[in-house]
Amino acid sequence: MSDKRILLIIGGGIAAYKSLELIRELSRRGIASRCIVTKGGQEFVTPLSVSALSGEKVFTELFDLDDESEMGHIQLSRSADLVVVCPATADLMAKAANGLANDLASTALLATDKPVLMVPAMNVRMWEHAATQRNVETLRGDGVTVMDPDEGAMACGEFGPGRLPEPIAIADRIQALLSDGPVLYGLEPKPLAGRHALITAGPTREPLDPVRFLSNHSSGKQGYAIAGALARAGARVTLVSGPVSLETPAGVDLVPVETAREMLEACQAALPSDLFVSVAAVADWRPSRAAAKKMKLKEGDGDPHPTLELSENPDILATLSRKKKNRPTLIIGFAAETHEVEALAIAKLKRKRCDWIVANDVSGDVMGGTMNEVSLVTRDGVEDRWPRMTKEDVATRLVERIAREFDDEAGQIAAE
Ligand code: C5P
Repeated sequence: MSDKRILLIIGGGIAAYKSLELIRELSRRGIASRCIVTKGGQEFVTPLSVSALSGEKVFTELFDLDDESEMGHIQLSRSADLVVVCPATADLMAKAANGLANDLASTALLATDKPVLMVPAMNVRMWEHAATQRNVETLRGDGVTVMDPDEGAMACGEFGPGRLPEPIAIADRIQALLSDGPVLYGLEPKPLAGRHALITAGPTREPLDPVRFLSNHSSGKQGYAIAGALARAGARVTLVSGPVSLETPAGVDLVPVETAREMLEACQAALPSDLFVSVAAVADWRPSRAAAKKMKLKEGDGDPHPTLELSENPDILATLSRKKKNRPTLIIGFAAETHEVEALAIAKLKRKRCDWIVANDVSGDVMGGTMNEVSLVTRDGVEDRWPRMTKEDVATRLVERIAREFDDEAGQIAAE
């Protein structure tokens, strides 16, 4: 647990309510928040609810005699390790970019000697406006970290960049900025440097004949996000992937395959590895015989009622988990279920003999979508239930957990 503290400036915007979730997420990570709520912010969240969550007095006024005698705005702006503006409105960014100081938030931003993170959230046109973009450039030039907003449907009914990123992603960025230890975002040392990570992703295709195949709806998004996060954490990454229409993440070695049997062969060939993450939606069966020529139905000598004989495919996760030699140290499977998600995941972990299972409920819009909601199951049972978040955030959080595991393992070996 860290003993870090941020000064959180909550600006006015519909996304302000998410700052409450952020405070909670940060406190789970041992990071305390002292908060300023702007006038606009108070239209969306009350100082009382912010104070209840943060466990601290909330500051709202510049010329409040009590506050000034207890803690002046200069001291307030310097009493934290990091200043975070969330949501950062167009107005707050414009003030900060131009050095205005006419309320408590803008004065604290001008007076601080600490790093500043701005998390913008606004209407897409306001975000894309030349003035806002100019202010963002100025702020970045001044050394302020400005997160890119998420893209999607907005409260105002428009669509595009401008949404506040998920609180988990903001907390990750805050943790990275506060941390002087290993982190995922571009800092040294990389927590997985020197490790080899093998990962499968996407669907497999099982041919019926030269033009037809059996497959599934897997988009590969979650697997590719994990491969990218592993590479950012410094691992050498081998990504064995079925056919998908995604760009290969930077720093990842791609081994493209089609069938389950090719996928298994490519995985075996990539060993040894420290980590195996089995995200691929491997087809359970394949047509027992793939016709050499295109099968014809009605015309010519075609069978009008052909039957399909299927054979079971190898289970790649179970095969690698049961290896005596060269078994990766940490093996993580995925379990996509539509009901009894966690119970089935626990059973699957035992059956396949992997170390962890990331269990997800695919009864909604997970397949092909950008969001995911998962539980992390280890040999000890359900370790954690993560809130609904983007697949990128699931990847970052999983890789952080993986990095911790290897860190603990390295610590144990050093202690022996
Ligand atoms: O048994 P089920 O398909 O639900 O298990 C899912 C997990 O097993 C995933 O991690 C998937 O990548 C892996 N798997 C595999 N080979 C198979 C079937 C599933 O590696 N033939």
